[in-house]
Amino acid sequence: MLKKKKLTEKTTLFRSGTPFKTGAVIKDIDSNDFELVSNVLFLRLEEKSNEISFIYEMAKDDVVYGLGETLGALNKRGKIYRFYNTDDPEHTPEKQSLYGTHPFMILDGEKTFGLFIDYPSEIIFDISFTHKDILKITIPSKDFDMYFFDSDEKLSIIKEYFNLTGKPYIPPKWAFGFQQSKWSYFSEREVREVANKYRELGIPLDVIYTDIDYMDSYKVFTINKETFPNYEGMVKDLKEKGIKVIPILDPGVKIEEGYEVFEEGKKNGYFCTDEDANPFVAAVWPGLTHFPDFLNSKVRKWWGQKYKVFTDMGVKGFWNDMNEPSIFYTPKSLDKLFDLLKDLEKNKDEAGIEVFLAKENFVNISNNREDYRSFYHKLDDGTLINHDLVHNLYGFKNTQATAEEMKELLPNQRVLLLSRSSYPGLHRMASIWMGDNKSWWEHMLVNIRMLQSLNMVGFFYTGADIGGFGADASAELVVRWMQLGAFTPFFRNHTALNTRPQEPWQFDEESLKIMKDIVRLRYAFLPYTYSEYMNSVKESTPFVKPLSFVFDDERVKDIEDQYMYGESLMVAPVYEQNKKGRFVHLPDVKWLNWNASKFEERNMNVYEPGDYYIKADLEQIPLFIKENNLIVLSEPMNYVDEKEITELWVVGLVTDQAIYNYYDDDGETYNFAKGEFAQIKINVVKENGDFKIDVKKEDPKNLLKIKKINFELYDSDGSAVRKDKII
Ligand code: GLC
Repeated sequence: MLKKKKLTEKTTLFRSGTPFKTGAVIKDIDSNDFELVSNVLFLRLEEKSNEISFIYEMAKDDVVYGLGETLGALNKRGKIYRFYNTDDPEHTPEKQSLYGTHPFMILDGEKTFGLFIDYPSEIIFDISFTHKDILKITIPSKDFDMYFFDSDEKLSIIKEYFNLTGKPYIPPKWAFGFQQSKWSYFSEREVREVANKYRELGIPLDVIYTDIDYMDSYKVFTINKETFPNYEGMVKDLKEKGIKVIPILDPGVKIEEGYEVFEEGKKNGYFCTDEDANPFVAAVWPGLTHFPDFLNSKVRKWWGQKYKVFTDMGVKGFWNDMNEPSIFYTPKSLDKLFDLLKDLEKNKDEAGIEVFLAKENFVNISNNREDYRSFYHKLDDGTLINHDLVHNLYGFKNTQATAEEMKELLPNQRVLLLSRSSYPGLHRMASIWMGDNKSWWEHMLVNIRMLQSLNMVGFFYTGADIGGFGADASAELVVRWMQLGAFTPFFRNHTALNTRPQEPWQFDEESLKIMKDIVRLRYAFLPYTYSEYMNSVKESTPFVKPLSFVFDDERVKDIEDQYMYGESLMVAPVYEQNKKGRFVHLPDVKWLNWNASKFEERNMNVYEPGDYYIKADLEQIPLFIKENNLIVLSEPMNYVDEKEITELWVVGLVTDQAIYNYYDDDGETYNFAKGEFAQIKINVVKENGDFKIDVKKEDPKNLLKIKKINFELYDSDGSAVRKDKII
């Protein structure tokens, strides 16, 4: 039996049993005024002894959007998605689970609606897979909340979702700069060399990451003094060059006597416990570890304060990894494996298929559900809860610990906070990247689709490991992926241990030159990117949107490899090997095409709506500015805020009128929430063959240093008029 409560005009909560308070929802929902119901609108309910399913018969052309970090197409029909957070570095098409849980979907079709399941353990979305017309959502529990969003408008469903779970996270402005990472830069010397190389070559860079090898024996919150003798000095020196250092942090605490984090955690009972009430033991990078019990607020506080060792050094960004939590093995599971090997050994002269089948046991020893069922959390009220029942919250609560304590450690300062694992609500305080992809062309398409799906669930600031994490990358792949990355909010080149290095200079002179231009182009777009990002958070509208969220024609539903980046720009990346161009669908309006390679070279073409093959040589990325919309550029810099921006370039195809609301703020604090931001309202009207330009600056705090705006306005015939305005 369910009960229901209408929360807003468009949002209704259906509650089953007594759900666990996950923290996903920010709205206060008291337990009064619920009405008992036996059905959920037009969804069929199927109840078994220990699970409930919602079933919906889909019309032929219904499209399903959302579900965040999942593999497969943008239209989620035709696959099973199983939300049970897992560290799986093999993102192959058949996989049903990744690192995060985002059970919010929109069905767009004969009926249009959205729904969000707030339940912290396994949830299964079978979307036209088992039966081609049936959407079946199964929750293996009787205690959960289901929110139903009733609206015909996809974007208004998303607004309702944000209304419920909070608005997306806002990073510092420098987080929109380029970032370099590698597992690992093994020493301070190496990190400094990489930084210097960027500056020598004149490739802009804002961030360098230090991966697990900066630690002493992978002990979280320690630094290897031999290889990183002066981490603090490195942070300070690189800061002088405009480069911020971000360390990785893992939740597994090495079991080692005398190690402070271990000793404190043990003494205070801060670790998750096993069936015998002893700290649970699992192996990750450091070997045997204990897991902090992040579901407990005291533990979160303790953990969050540990970041002080870095904030004291001037660090302003953190990378929380392995927080599904990833388990390589447990002593118990390893014993089982050894038993199996002993059996095989006994039988070794005859073992055939047994050896073949035994391989699975090696793979399954990691991140095994049985292990997740064998430990417990102690909640604030003292209740013990089995980890499996709240599994999907671990990374969220881990990162909440960081985010909450940052308010104390770095008051009123924005930090770049990344988490690998996530749950709804995390998007308010941090963001995620797409985990361990591979240097495969196929994973560029995964990146493009996931970017759109993650934006729908509130992770606006996201991106993939550019160039691919696992496997070796070719120069061409890295070039094309950098072009895509330049148009994703989180733009970081990262690669795994024992793979081909991927920094721009690791290939050949020509590729280096192209990559340098791409990064410079990214910086030229920063005024637009930042302004659009901030406006999209304000408006609760995804920063990256599929074309089908903007245009109505039937064709756009099939377009998954082009996307809107802000309101004015459509990006159509080349993501296939050896391709010198691609097909592009241009919906509804005219488009100003810029096959961009350099900020300084703007050769534009105007296209009528339609389908085209657009040529794009290796150094070119096909960009399209929407008719009667504008983009705003500035001269590239070596890092964000290196220099004051005194000049802007405003570019667009104006056939009637274009209005642009340019936004800027200090980029570092939350003062914008107190009204400390600047706006330039630009209005361009096409009149009697000329352009009438009106510019209004609103800058009460004197944040802007812009003196001149250069207008580059195109006409339908492709001719350009250049004008400037002193402001
Ligand atoms: C995990 C992370 C990856 C990182 C590696 C080593 O695989 O996803 O980004 O480089 O661990 O820390």
